[in-house]
Amino acid sequence: MALFLPEFDLQRFNTLAIPARANFYVAVTNHAEVLEALAFAAEHKLPLLPLGGGSNIVLADHYPGLVMHIKLHGIEQVAEDDSSVWVRAAAGENWHEFVQHCLAMGCYGLENLSLIPGTVGAAPIQNIGAYGVELKDRVAELSAIDIRSGLAVTFTADSCGFAYRDSVFKHSARDQYIITSVTFKLDRVAKVMLEYPSLLQQLQLSDSALNTAITPDQVAAAVIAVRQEKLPDPAITPNAGSFFKNPIISAEQFDLLRQRFADVVAYPQPDGSVKLAAGWLIDRAGWRGYCEGDVAVHAEQALVVTNPGRGAGTNVLALADKITQSVREQYGVVLQLEPRVYPSAR
Ligand code: FAD
Ligand code: EPU
Repeated sequence: MALFLPEFDLQRFNTLAIPARANFYVAVTNHAEVLEALAFAAEHKLPLLPLGGGSNIVLADHYPGLVMHIKLHGIEQVAEDDSSVWVRAAAGENWHEFVQHCLAMGCYGLENLSLIPGTVGAAPIQNIGAYGVELKDRVAELSAIDIRSGLAVTFTADSCGFAYRDSVFKHSARDQYIITSVTFKLDRVAKVMLEYPSLLQQLQLSDSALNTAITPDQVAAAVIAVRQEKLPDPAITPNAGSFFKNPIISAEQFDLLRQRFADVVAYPQPDGSVKLAAGWLIDRAGWRGYCEGDVAVHAEQALVVTNPGRGAGTNVLALADKITQSVREQYGVVLQLEPRVYPSAR
């Protein structure tokens, strides 16, 4: 039986450590409890927030609804052939522990995504990505429960509409499904991905073509080392990772920008557009290391807004607004938030 707790403090369940309450909180550990929680929300006409590790949300205020903490567990190998293994993980599994588990089983392909906080079930929402790999490269399918009907549904990787920090779960399927498990297609023989500059640097390689001797465990260790150097540990300095997405602009807009800033960091996209390193833009605009009351901009990575004072979400969002305005004024580029704000206002 699910236990519904009223006026629940969410501070230790969001990595920005924002002190905000939910009208109701329930932890769900199996399918029946998910259905029970959906029925409770429908009966009391409550909005629903499915919660994983709370590492990509900003609580702007108290949440006037039901927080459903996803605690579904289990990892199993569901199929294999000569070269691939299909592994299914329940939505409540910790992402990094799952990556480590796959490595220990000799199943490769997720190592570049080591140490990303959060859960397996949240990973498809923004198609998590790091160091040259995105979740979409490895998802075979996912299972979900339709919030309105309570029915179980399956999404193929194609039907998830994955793109950079994006999926259908942010658009046409937003707030309509509880993801219950994700199935990954992994390799038996590793093909390590070493394109990302800071990864090559960490491994002291000058060229990704020199990758033959590098093992997936070494890749994971290098990714972990780079992350620990650049990104603050939320347990010590509350944060939600990158606070903004890297903006994608047209080739024409990029040419104009490059005339003014020859060293702007940018990645050409297959369709001709250009992705900019928002961290570079924010850093160059003077924000890296900035502090204001409870909140700050991380000194090692300007894309990360932190909340060392563990204060209100409105302070975090006010600083984000100032950064957005300054980047727009200086470069004519509009930044978009990466984490989702609750209650929904933007
Ligand atoms: P939550 O914050 O709990 O939820 C995020 C969203 O997903 C919410 O809208 C929530 O309702 C929804 N959701 C969660 N679970 C479910 C479910 N089962 N069904 C339906 N909806 C659900 N992200 C990257 O992509 N790459 C990185 O390198 C990266 N680095 C980070 C580093 C740090 C230090 C931090 C704090 C964050 C970083 N992130 C990164 C962002 C974050 O870790 C990911 O977005 C992660 O997938 C969020 O998982 P979560 O379980 O914490 O999600
Ligand atoms: N840079 C600066 N100053 C800064 C920060 C970055 O000049 O303060 C420059 C770096 O020198 C580098 C470039 O910007 O040339 C890119 O920096 P980095 O490699 O740190 O990556 P990022 O683009 O800032 C993205 C993701 C991260 C992910 C890393 C590694 C987004 C929004 N962020 O950061 O994801 O871990 O690449 O792949 O795409 C997250 O989403 O929460 C997250 C942490």
